[in-house]
Amino acid sequence: MRNFTFFVLFLCSLPAFAQKFEGLAPTPPMGWNSWNTFAGNISENLIKGVAESLLSSGMQKAGYAYIVIDDCWEAMARDTMGNLVADPAKFPGGMKAVGDYLHAKGFKFGIHNCAGTKTCAGFPGGRGHEYQDARTYASWGVDYLKYDWCNHGTANAEETYKTMRDALHAAGRPVVFSLCEWGNNQPWLWAENVGHLWRTTGDIRDCYDCQGVYDMGWKIILDKQAGLEKYAGPDHWNDPDMLEVGNKGLSLDEARAHFSLWCMLAAPLMAGNDVRSMSNDVREILTNGEVIAIDQDPLGKQGYRFIENPGKEIWVKELSNGGWAVCVLNGGDSRMEMHLDWNNLPFLKGSFRVRDIWKRKDTGTTKDEFIGAIPAHNVVLMRLTPLK
Ligand code: GLA
Repeated sequence: MRNFTFFVLFLCSLPAFAQKFEGLAPTPPMGWNSWNTFAGNISENLIKGVAESLLSSGMQKAGYAYIVIDDCWEAMARDTMGNLVADPAKFPGGMKAVGDYLHAKGFKFGIHNCAGTKTCAGFPGGRGHEYQDARTYASWGVDYLKYDWCNHGTANAEETYKTMRDALHAAGRPVVFSLCEWGNNQPWLWAENVGHLWRTTGDIRDCYDCQGVYDMGWKIILDKQAGLEKYAGPDHWNDPDMLEVGNKGLSLDEARAHFSLWCMLAAPLMAGNDVRSMSNDVREILTNGEVIAIDQDPLGKQGYRFIENPGKEIWVKELSNGGWAVCVLNGGDSRMEMHLDWNNLPFLKGSFRVRDIWKRKDTGTTKDEFIGAIPAHNVVLMRLTPLK
């Protein structure tokens, strides 16, 4: 009888529905998000145009599956029943119609809201409406929710995000849950069972290493990822924010390096450019299958910084089948000659075939030095395959 009482007490102490949807992000999610280029300037027509371009440019085929509508899709107020509603001017057909359209084109539908009382742009937030909103998202066919952290007052981040996780689960439609609390409360320490990805920093900006009050260039964000690698894995990824590839503040060299390093980080790859008008060079970066394969490698290990010298860093990432990716960044302001003696990378056991990914060229083996040159703010990205 005593054991039975303990058992009942134990069951009662388990939170109801306390789970996230498992298995939705075995590799880092890929897609496109409206914020970096369009901010509040969004509409049903824009989303349709983006979907068409993702199809015609080969990006959908390359893996970009989620189309995420960020802040500013809402009307300024909920309806009389407290339900979220779309801005009728921007999305005249409502959000279910957007979801249906995206699904018919083979995409998954992502949406943004905020854990606070209002979103960062001042639209209705989810606080106190979590279960109601989760049911709304399910009825619209939402597959991905990015959940922000503005106007949260004194709320506790872990509890708040768990509430939304539980609400999504209770609504019954599998949704990738993307936590966006900017790393303020070290989500890597507690969010593995809460969401599928979590932002680790403030916002990215389209520059190499500029620093704003809330936003910063990709190199500053990269530096903040060192040491976080042990917290990431299938279904729970560190998110160093969306891509700025193709946006005007980055040169092509900087865009290529940014993309390479985000793939080394096993980062979610959310394109943030105007894909309707991108150049061929930009399209070639975003659709390079060999680079994307580093990001999407099924082993699911985030890369780490192996060496940091002034102006030169080496990042390495373990891959499936005994392979490795090695990325050398020239952080200096001029072209760098590079001699890489593989003996200095002692974690490499045995010999490997070496492929220079951006050159699409097999360059030899790790028995020889790798000799090359790297333009300023660019990388050499290599894939190492064990020699039989
Ligand atoms: C925050 C997020 C951004 C974006 C904006 C929208 O700043 O970090 O990614 O969603 O809110 O207002």
